[in-house]
Amino acid sequence: MATNGTDSLANFWNLSLNSLQVSYTSVIIAAAILWVVWTSATSYFRTRGRDRFPPGSFGFPIIGDTVQYLLATKSDVGYRTWVQKKVAKYGPLFKWRFQGMPVVMMDAPGGNKLLFQNDGTLFEVYWPVQMATLLGTDTLSVVRGERHKVLRRHLSRFFDHASISRYLKGVDQNAVEHFAHHWADKGESEVELVPSKVIKLFTFSIMCNLLMSLEEGPEMETFLKHFVKWTNGLLSLPINLPGFTYYKALEARKHIYQIIEEYVEQRKREVAEGRLSERAKVDVLTSLLTVPDEGGNLLSDSYICDNLLVFLFAGFDTSSGALDMIIHFIGKHPDVYEQLVQEHSSIMERKRGEGKDDFLTSEDLLAMKYTWRVIQETLRLQPPVGGVFREAIEDSEHNGYIIPKGWKLMYNTMCSHYDPKFFKDPMTFDPSRWEQPPVPFTFIPFGGGPRTCPGNEFAKMEMLVFIHHLVRRYRWSVTDANEPIIRDPMPRTEKAIKFIKVTSSI
Ligand code: HEM
Repeated sequence: MATNGTDSLANFWNLSLNSLQVSYTSVIIAAAILWVVWTSATSYFRTRGRDRFPPGSFGFPIIGDTVQYLLATKSDVGYRTWVQKKVAKYGPLFKWRFQGMPVVMMDAPGGNKLLFQNDGTLFEVYWPVQMATLLGTDTLSVVRGERHKVLRRHLSRFFDHASISRYLKGVDQNAVEHFAHHWADKGESEVELVPSKVIKLFTFSIMCNLLMSLEEGPEMETFLKHFVKWTNGLLSLPINLPGFTYYKALEARKHIYQIIEEYVEQRKREVAEGRLSERAKVDVLTSLLTVPDEGGNLLSDSYICDNLLVFLFAGFDTSSGALDMIIHFIGKHPDVYEQLVQEHSSIMERKRGEGKDDFLTSEDLLAMKYTWRVIQETLRLQPPVGGVFREAIEDSEHNGYIIPKGWKLMYNTMCSHYDPKFFKDPMTFDPSRWEQPPVPFTFIPFGGGPRTCPGNEFAKMEMLVFIHHLVRRYRWSVTDANEPIIRDPMPRTEKAIKFIKVTSSI
C-alpha cells in the first residue's frame, strides 16, 4: 500500500484537466480576462512615474510570462535558463508579469535584504487564492501582520535547539526502521530503487511522527493518499465543481481534517488521563495542547489542525527534494562519498571507544561538519524552493526604482546561488566552498527575515541523520551523470540507482 502512495506522489502538482468541460471553460476564461483587465487598469492608473519602474518587460498582454515561467519551472535547466536570460537582458532586478500580476524579481544581495528586512511592514506574504484556501486562512504560512508574529513566536518554540535534541532519538529510530523496511536491509548485497520515491516515505513518516506520533502503517497510508490529493490542488485551477482537481483537494482537506481532529481529541484524553507514550510526550501535538502562548492562551482546536497540516506541507516535500539531490550529487562525486565515510567512521569509532551505543546524539551531529557542507552545497545548486512571492503593501523604492503598492515581489534562489560574483565556479559541486561563510543575503534556501523557515534546524538534523545511516550501509554511483533534474516544483530524479551494501565495520 505504501507503494501506491508513492506512485500517486509521482503525479504531485500535476494539473488534472481531464474532466474540463467546455461550458465551464468559457465562463472561467471570461471571468479571468475581466479580472486581469480590471487589476491591470487600476494598477496602471494608480501608479505614477512609470519610467521609474524596474527594467523588464510585461511580455504578452495579460498572461505575460505565465506560460514560459510555468514550463521553465518543470526542470532545473529550464528554470535557470529563464532566469539567466532575463538577468542578461535587464539585470538582476527585473519586472515581469505572472497570472496578470506585475512581479518584481529581487536582486541579491540588496533586493533580498530589502525584502527580508521589511517583511511584515512594506511587504506581506502572498498566496494565490486557491492555495490560501487549501492551506487554511489561520495558518502560519498565510496569516499576516501581528497575528503572524504572535503565532510564529509560539510555534517556533517547538523547533528550537532544545526541542530538536528531544526529537533526535525518534528521527534516528525512524531512519533505522526505514532502511530495514524499504531498502531490503536484511542481508541482500545490493538494492536497486528510485531514490525520489523511497525518500518520500521517509520524510512523510518523519513528519507524521514529529507532529502527531503517527507511525507507518495503514493509517499513515490513508493519510498520505488524502494528503497527495490535497497537495495536487494547490497549483490547480480554483474551480470548486465535482471532477475538478481543486474540488477533490477540498474534499481531501475535509478527510485530513477529520483524521487530525480525531488525533487531537484522542490526545486530549491521553493528556488528561496522564497516559502518553514516550514519543507522544515529545511530539508537536502534545506541546500545542499543553503549552500556552505568550498571552497565556492555548490554541483552539481548529488552529492546531490548520497548523499541523501546514507544517506537514512545509516539511515533507522540501526535505525529500533535498535528500534526493544529496544522493544524486554524492553518487556523482566518489571523492565526496569517501570523505563522508571517513567522517562517519570516525564518529562511530569515537562512540564505540567511549563505550556508547550507536544512537546519535547532538554532539555527534556537531561533528558532522563535512556532511553539513555537502548539504549546503546541494541546497545551493538545487534549492527545493525556487522562489517565494510577497505583495507590496506600501510603495517602496529600491536602487532608484519604484515598487508600487499592490505589485508582487519574488525572491529567487536561482539568481544568487548561480552568480559567479558570490560563488566561484558556480556550476561546480564543491562542498569545500562552505569552509567560508557566504555573502549575506546570497544563500537563501530557507528564505530570510521574519518568515525564515522555522523548520530549518529540524531539516538539518533530519538530513544529517539520513546521510549518516545511508553512507554506513551503501555505496553507489548515479546511473546517468547527465540525467536531467525534474522540478515539480521540488527537484527530483527518476532513474533507479543500484545501492551496493558495504561490509565495513561502521
Ligand atoms: C530542506 C528542507 C526545507 C527547505 C529548503 C525549506 C524552505 C523553506 C522556505 C524557502 C520557506 C519560505 C519562507 C518565506 O516565506 O519566505 C519555508 C517556510 C516554512 N517552512 Fe520550511 N523548508 C524546509 C523544511 C521544513 C521543515 C522540516 C519544516 C517543519 C518541521 C518546515 C516548516 C516551515 C514552515 C511552517 C514555514 C512557514 C513559515 C512562515 O511563514 O512563518 N520547513 N521553508
